[in-house]
Amino acid sequence: MQLAAGSLGLAILAGCQNSDSSSASTPPVPTAIAVGDEWKITGAASLQPGQAMAFEWPDKTPGLIFIAGDAKLRAVSAKCSHAGCTVAWREKGEFHCPCHGSRFDTSGKVLLGPATESLPTYTARKHGNDVLLKANA
Ligand code: FES
Repeated sequence: MQLAAGSLGLAILAGCQNSDSSSASTPPVPTAIAVGDEWKITGAASLQPGQAMAFEWPDKTPGLIFIAGDAKLRAVSAKCSHAGCTVAWREKGEFHCPCHGSRFDTSGKVLLGPATESLPTYTARKHGNDVLLKANA
């Protein structure tokens, strides 16, 4: 299932909260699986430019894999560095926090506070139907 998000027609795949909780077609949010020094997100390779896909770390921390305007496949922790709310993919190149309005760019850097720390970012690469993530230093 695909849900439209934002004014630019971007989409967020699997893992969006659907207001219709009775929907049986909403796929579950994939959980990152450790593979050596990388993390596998099953089925994420179908992501298209302009789309983001939610996933969870094993401790339930939210993450987002996305392809922004530069066509690079990347990922960020979606846990806001201010007070821990889940940030959303709103426009090409930005993540917005619904709690207090912080905004972050695709490299996780703060564009607007109150957050002062960047979102952790991950290098992402396709591996068959899956995506493998590696933490950036
Ligand atoms: Fe995100 Fe406060 S939790 S801005």
